Amino acid sequence: STPSLLILAGDGIGPEVMTEVRKIIDWFGAKRDLAFDVSEDLVGGAAYDVHGVPLADETMAKAQEVDAVLLGAVGGPKYDDLDFSVKPERGLLRLRKEMDLYSNLRPAQCFDALADFSSLKKDVVAGLDIMIVRELTSGIYFGEPRGISVNASGEREGVNTQRYTESEIARVARSAFELAKRRGNKVCSMEKANVMESGILWREIVQKVHDEEYPDVELSHMYADAGGMQLCRWPKQFDVIVTDNLFGDLLSDVAAMLTGSLGMLPSASLGAPMENGRPKALYEPVHGSAPDIAGQGKANPIACILSFAMALRYSFDQGAEADRLEKAVEKVLADGLRTADLMGPEGGSPVSTSAMGDAIVAALDAS
Ligand code: NAI
Ligand code: MG
Repeated sequence: STPSLLILAGDGIGPEVMTEVRKIIDWFGAKRDLAFDVSEDLVGGAAYDVHGVPLADETMAKAQEVDAVLLGAVGGPKYDDLDFSVKPERGLLRLRKEMDLYSNLRPAQCFDALADFSSLKKDVVAGLDIMIVRELTSGIYFGEPRGISVNASGEREGVNTQRYTESEIARVARSAFELAKRRGNKVCSMEKANVMESGILWREIVQKVHDEEYPDVELSHMYADAGGMQLCRWPKQFDVIVTDNLFGDLLSDVAAMLTGSLGMLPSASLGAPMENGRPKALYEPVHGSAPDIAGQGKANPIACILSFAMALRYSFDQGAEADRLEKAVEKVLADGLRTADLMGPEGGSPVSTSAMGDAIVAALDAS
C-alpha cells in the first residue's frame, strides 16, 4: 500500500521550507513512481490560532497512524507570552512523548562544497558522514528524584538523577545497530562506565544486544569525554555513535559544528517498530522557526529536504533514492548555489528559498 506521510509545517519559516519539500515529494511521485499518501495539518502557533492548543487531539491521532511525520518548525514572538501549557513547543513535546520517540538521530554530514564552513580543517571533515543516536526519553533529564530542596544541614541542594533500565538501553541500542546495518556497519557506544553505575549497565547491555542480535556489526566502547575529543580530532573514524540523553545532547551539538550552518542539519526521532515493521518516526530540521527571516524568502530549505531524505532511508526503505536526493543537494552546492546563511563574510549573491528548491528539483531531473 502507498506509504503515508503527515506534514506539519508549523510556524515561521516552517511552511516556507516545507513548500520546497513538497516539490521534492511531487518529483519522486512523478519521476520515480514513488507515491506518498500525503496529508497536512497544523502544529505549534498555527494550531493554537485555530484550536486554542498547539496540537489538536485529531492531529495527534493522525500522527500515531501514519508511516512518518515530517515537521517544519514551531514558535515565534507572537506566542511568547502564552501560558506554558499551550506554548507552540508543547505541541512538539506532545508528539515526541505520545509517540514514545526514544531514539534521536542527528547526522553530521559534510558536503565538500561547504567544508570551509566547518570549525575544523577541511581534510578532517571533507566527506564526513556520521550519525549520532541519542537516547531521548530517559536519563538524567527525566529521572526521579529531582528538585531543589533544603537538605539536613539546612542548605539548599539541586538534585537530578541518572536512571536507565535494561530495556531502555536495549531498545536504543537496537535502533543504533539497525541504522548501522544500512550504513557503515559500525557502532561506537559512549558512556562513563569508569565513574557511573548507569554507564556500567549501559556498556553491559549494549554489548549483550550486540552479541545476541547483531554480532556482524562492529562494536566499540568509548568514554564519552574521550569521545568528544575524538569527534574533534578525527571524526571520520566513526559511523554510528550511540549514547545517553545527556551525553548525546552535548556530543550532537559538537558534531553539528563540524559541518556548518543550522540551515543544513536534519534530524529524526524514532520509536518502537509498528505492525508493518517501520519505526514510529518524526523527521524535522534541527533549526527553529527563524522569525528574524520569516516571510522574506531567505530560509535555507536544505535541512528540511535532508530530513525527508532521512525519511526515505529510515522509514521507507528507499536508500538509493535517499542517496539520489543527497547527491542532488551536493550538486547544487558544488555548482555554487547558496542561500544567505551559507554566504561567507565576503558576501555574494544569495538565492531565495524557492530558487534553491527548484535547483534541487532540476538536479534530480538530471540525475
Ligand atoms: P532558530 O533556529 O529559529 O534561528 C537561529 C538563527 O539561525 C536565526 O538567525 C535564523 O535566522 C537562522 N536560521 C535558522 N534556520 C535557518 C534556515 N533554515 N535558513 C537560514 N537561516 C536559518 O532559533 P531561535 O532564533 O533560537 O528560535 C526562534 C523560534 O524557534 C523560537 O520560538 C524557538 O522557540 C523556536 N524553535 C523551534 C524549534 C523547533 O521547532 N524544533 C527548535 C528551536 C527553536
Ligand atoms: Mg542541545
